[in-house]
Amino acid sequence: MILVTGATGHLGAAVVKHLIAQIPASQVAVLVRNESKADELKALGVIVRVSDYRQLESLEKAFAGVDKLLLISSSDFNDRFQQHKNAVDAAKKAGVKHIFYTGVTMRDIEKSPLKAFLDSHFQTEDYIKAQGLAYTFFRNGLYSEVIPMFLGATVLETGVFFPSGEGKVAFASRADLAEAIANVLAADGHEGKIYALAGTQSYSFADVANALSQLSSKTVAFNSPEPAVFQQVLAQIGLPEPIIQMSLGFAAGIKNQDFEATSADLARVLGREPENLQSFLQKTYF
Ligand SMILES: NC(=O)c1ccc[n+]([C@@H]2O[C@H](COP(=O)([O-])OP(=O)(O)OC[C@H]3O[C@@H](n4cnc5c(N)ncnc54)[C@H](OP(=O)(O)O)[C@@H]3O)[C@@H](O)[C@H]2O)c1
Repeated sequence: MILVTGATGHLGAAVVKHLIAQIPASQVAVLVRNESKADELKALGVIVRVSDYRQLESLEKAFAGVDKLLLISSSDFNDRFQQHKNAVDAAKKAGVKHIFYTGVTMRDIEKSPLKAFLDSHFQTEDYIKAQGLAYTFFRNGLYSEVIPMFLGATVLETGVFFPSGEGKVAFASRADLAEAIANVLAADGHEGKIYALAGTQSYSFADVANALSQLSSKTVAFNSPEPAVFQQVLAQIGLPEPIIQMSLGFAAGIKNQDFEATSADLARVLGREPENLQSFLQKTYF
């Protein structure tokens, strides 16, 4: 049996859908922390287990009978490594044979302004390795879906306003990531493999502005302000402080070329080219 955690989230739900296209739903389980969010999953015929990364005991029960565990990184950044450690400890106790983990692909965590935000991914990988279980790591690229998150809904009118300088990103859409992860999970092998699931091309936010200009047939300008100015503007429009800090952190990471490296892994695992920027923007904004 394969169990997917984070299955009420965007990535996990999409992985489950791809997985049950390849293997019977009766061999797929999901972990949810809130059963009231699991109706759609139940309707697919998968097995629903309820627990939370913070509840070691119920996690162990939830992982009973699981051979392969896809541990999707928590969206709650408070004590994130501890949450993942709990899941790994519970998996080991429950007899899980192979852990697949969704981390991040980046140039060098030690030199990144995002170290505090993202180090838990690398701590988790090290911890999984140290347990002696079979492992596979998906180092995901930045989601294409962060573009509308960072630029806002009115970008076509206001232009691209983001302090990322000339930094580029090898974006990967969540849909492509989910399909690739399901392909690996459904197949045999992959032990000890690390996949950099990023795009085959990288784009700056000036490229994003250009693509939006082409698609809209009007000029969408690019402006990379000083971080302090960006911070002030986000505060003025009333965004919560954690969101402001997250946006500032990722802009700094992008400027630092943290997410610039392209990879052939995503295309290889998909068996096709991943979705390109133009196509993603077309779907998102038009
Ligand atoms: N590469 C990128 O650009 C990027 C961008 C954003 C996020 N991420 C990472 O990738 C992960 C998956 O992305 P996504 O888009 O699917 O995120 P998402 O939609 O926010 O889903 C996160 C999932 O994690 C679950 N979760 C959170 N805390 C948990 C806990 N304590 N115990 C058990 N489950 C818990 C959530 O459950 P509920 O539904 O109950 O909340 C949800 O199912 C995120 O969690 C984050 O770590 C990566």
